[in-house]
Amino acid sequence: MSARKRASATACSNIAFIKYWGKRDFDWNVPLNDSISMNLSAAVTTTTVEWDPELAQDEIYLEGERVLDERGLRISRYLDRIRNDWYRMGARVASVNSFPAGTGIASSASGFAALASAAIAAFQEDKPDEIEMTRWARRGSGSACRSIQSGFVEWTAGSNDEGSVSQQFCPPEHWDLTDLVVLVSRSPKLISSSQGHRIAVAHPFMEERQKLLPSRILALKGALAKRDFQTFGEIVEHEAMEVQAIMMSGQPSAFYMQPGTVALIHAVRSWREEGGLPVYFTLDAGPNMHVLCESRYAPEVRRCIEKLVPRAEILENRAGPGTTVHDEHLF
Ligand code: PMV
Repeated sequence: MSARKRASATACSNIAFIKYWGKRDFDWNVPLNDSISMNLSAAVTTTTVEWDPELAQDEIYLEGERVLDERGLRISRYLDRIRNDWYRMGARVASVNSFPAGTGIASSASGFAALASAAIAAFQEDKPDEIEMTRWARRGSGSACRSIQSGFVEWTAGSNDEGSVSQQFCPPEHWDLTDLVVLVSRSPKLISSSQGHRIAVAHPFMEERQKLLPSRILALKGALAKRDFQTFGEIVEHEAMEVQAIMMSGQPSAFYMQPGTVALIHAVRSWREEGGLPVYFTLDAGPNMHVLCESRYAPEVRRCIEKLVPRAEILENRAGPGTTVHDEHLF
């Protein structure tokens, strides 16, 4: 019987400028459309995985606590995919986030990128190539594939598991952008993104959205390549509102915005339109605001946010690194 094998990995979460909302294949998380994101340097997950032949069942610790609920089951079911392919033994998994739990920051992207990378590195001496790692991360949680490479990343939808992969569009140093994530509410969301993806595919606007996306994606890539912040911001904000419209008018309706979100939307627009500050926003499947600006404006944008929301909890992110495998184990 082989010995225990252990590895650790650290991954950033990411924010999508063009969103993944709706799947073509629910088993393999193959999306309906391509998407583009930026890694979030301050929203990081570190995970250690140890495959242990003596373990009859997985032991999973999140933020130091053993979990036996749905979160643990999801991780075990994911590890089954790796076990089915290669290995039959239990795993000890520990995972911690750099950002507070239950704040609605997408921990599934950083979580599954780190889990996939640690679980596979612990098993294999030869690291699979980066593209193959994006497949493994995506099988855990779709958006996780965009956290494998650094900086600005494009996920090509593809039509099946093999073809659905992500690739770096430009490295972090290409453009010094900041995403100030304003934590608006800590209440758990009523409709998970897994449910949301199912509701979305039945939405009558979805067909039209799919027709509009290819030219929007091209325009966004052009703005990113040219560092044209105004064009970039207009596309990203419009995309966010389109996806929110689909979410809130679905059946059942997912209404993620809270009063604090709406106040910030109006404020960002007035800082821009009346104050001349180059700032835009995007939203995810949750109430938190992602306030986007070029980093040289970040101190001023931060002051504006703090004036509006005096005790605001803000997570300040630049374009972050890709997932790394390392030996700083959590146990
Ligand atoms: O990876 P999932 O299944 O949690 O879906 C995430 C979807 C959004 O965060 C709303 C958009 C995106 O592209 O990340």
